[in-house]
Amino acid sequence: MPHTPHAPGMFLFGGDYNPEQWSREIWAEDVALMRQAHVNTATIGVFSWAMLEPSEGEYDSQWLDDVISNLDAAGVGFFLATPTASPPPWFTTAHPDALPIRADGTPVLHGSRDTYAVSAPAYRDAARGIARFLAERYGTHPGLRGWHIHNEYGTIDYGPHAARAFRDWLRRKYVTLESLNTAWSTAFWSQRYGTWDDILPPVQTQYLHNPAQLVDFKRFSSDELLAAFTEQKDEIRAAGSTAPITTNFMLPTWNHLDQWAWSDAQDIVSIDHYLDTAGPDGEAHVAYGSDLTRSWAGGPWLLMEQNATGMRVGDRLATKEPDRMVRNSLGYIARGSQSSLFFQWRASAGGAELWHGALVPHAGADTRAFRAVVELGEMLEKISEVAEPPTSGVLVESEIGIVWDAEGWWSLETPHLPNDAIGYSDEVRAAHRAFWRGGYAVDFVRPGTDASRYRLLVVPALYAITAETGRWLEEYVRSGGCLVVTFATGLADEHQRVVAGGYPGMLRSLLGVRAEQIFPRPDGDIVYLSNGLAGGSWTEMLHADGADILARYDSGNLSGLPAITRRSLGTGSAIYLSTKLEQASLDTFLAGLAAEAGILPVLEGASAFGVEAVRRRGATADYLFLLHHGDHPVRVDGAGADLLSGARDRILLAPGQVAVIREESRAWSIVDA
Ligand code: GLA
Repeated sequence: MPHTPHAPGMFLFGGDYNPEQWSREIWAEDVALMRQAHVNTATIGVFSWAMLEPSEGEYDSQWLDDVISNLDAAGVGFFLATPTASPPPWFTTAHPDALPIRADGTPVLHGSRDTYAVSAPAYRDAARGIARFLAERYGTHPGLRGWHIHNEYGTIDYGPHAARAFRDWLRRKYVTLESLNTAWSTAFWSQRYGTWDDILPPVQTQYLHNPAQLVDFKRFSSDELLAAFTEQKDEIRAAGSTAPITTNFMLPTWNHLDQWAWSDAQDIVSIDHYLDTAGPDGEAHVAYGSDLTRSWAGGPWLLMEQNATGMRVGDRLATKEPDRMVRNSLGYIARGSQSSLFFQWRASAGGAELWHGALVPHAGADTRAFRAVVELGEMLEKISEVAEPPTSGVLVESEIGIVWDAEGWWSLETPHLPNDAIGYSDEVRAAHRAFWRGGYAVDFVRPGTDASRYRLLVVPALYAITAETGRWLEEYVRSGGCLVVTFATGLADEHQRVVAGGYPGMLRSLLGVRAEQIFPRPDGDIVYLSNGLAGGSWTEMLHADGADILARYDSGNLSGLPAITRRSLGTGSAIYLSTKLEQASLDTFLAGLAAEAGILPVLEGASAFGVEAVRRRGATADYLFLLHHGDHPVRVDGAGADLLSGARDRILLAPGQVAVIREESRAWSIVDA
């Protein structure tokens, strides 16, 4: 049976390869260096539209044939991208209406990339055309590992094509204008619509936008981009190519897509991941991106891009040390990635991203950075048996779930909430970080799906929810789960309408609480709780109404009132956290709940040494990944062999090092070495 990226029998290693930027002499050096580094995968064609179709309907693919045969000769497989993220200049000159328009009405002209209006028929036709051309020519090539459709979907258009498509989408959703007017609360500020044609995308306007319109436009844009993706997928299949199809999500800064729905539409889910800090929290960020993507994928996934040598923090480059590059790469793999792919193979000499890191830096192969790449290639071969996923069961076992929903992000971004500084991904990440620091395995959970394997389910800042989600959470509690709901959850329904009678209206009875007023706090205004924890930013005048009080406010105007509650229901319980705990307090609180639920860290005590432990299940064994982010040598004792060093049972780990242990038992201990 041919291997797929789900179960390739090896880890995919390599990255975006843009030979069109280089001479043929360099191409020859490229494949020689790829061989040296054990590279087995190149992603080609991502930005090649202008080379492949130099003028409308005229294709030139001889150069790509040559690139592919060079890769072939070197035993390097390829992802073939459709180049539709970057239409060539001739396209926008011929079809100016297919340029995106910003919310402020300004057109976005060509000269960069991603200059397309996704709803413009000319763009959609051209995108289908180039996808079809590539699929007919290369769709059955034996070196083709898969299709990489487009690049980081997320260009949002507010122009006339978007307006037309948005109205069509709204008509399908609401059927009558009356139901749209009700859902959008258009009685406020005289926004009542008498005809569909009066409805606009949320373009620049005088003051605050209608929140229901904003969230519907987010939903529409995600659906519209997904339709464009699906059209390309259909062209590829119609041309007879059966290779797996993906598109690369961008994490974590973009929130343009409903990732659960998009994941359903792909054969394998992939992401691009760039550290957003040079500091130690970058390691938690790797875990966060990986756990999210594994959860979206429901199993193995692909890391399509990362940066080999650095990260952009603010206005400058920060270096990623080689040992960190290796540890991060293994970190993604520990949490389910089938690949370690990078942007890009060779650092560009010109063009907009010439200072972005690469596997082959400007200084060439005689560098510490390239030697680390070769070392990583060797390591991935040593651990290749890990790439075979278990035939049944989950890849990374977790008893803790965190609810994730793109709609939560969209709703919390609507303006004029009690505290606009509360960010959805910040809150989700804070919960994930708390568990990461405690050494616990975590999954993300799609609302409405089976959550019964999680003993603990956390819902951070899910501002707007449906009645259905409320019932799903209640069912989880009744059947024995421990639910933790944080502040800023369940305040509104899916139309961004507050549910009156006390907060959080959508979950009041499940939680057994009723808040009569929300008190956002200025930054730095800390409130202390009776259990020793500290919060701020958001507090509530809360009453227990069927729930027990776990902690009270111990300072400030709410002193003596409930801050954290727990309601027992069925065989489970529902906890409400009415303030934004400081990170250290959240760490303590969530680790306490995990312990109470009988959930153990992957390797007890490892976090205290700065060692991240992750267990990834394989086809015939479980593998314990140890990533040493700390600064003292440690010793890990148990039964099993480190695939990297060859050590057995007693494994010494220096700071910065990694071990991948084929386990013979799950009993391990860790001490100072
Ligand atoms: C993204 C894109 C790449 C490149 C990198 C680096 O992930 O997919 O084309 O722009 O970022 O910035």
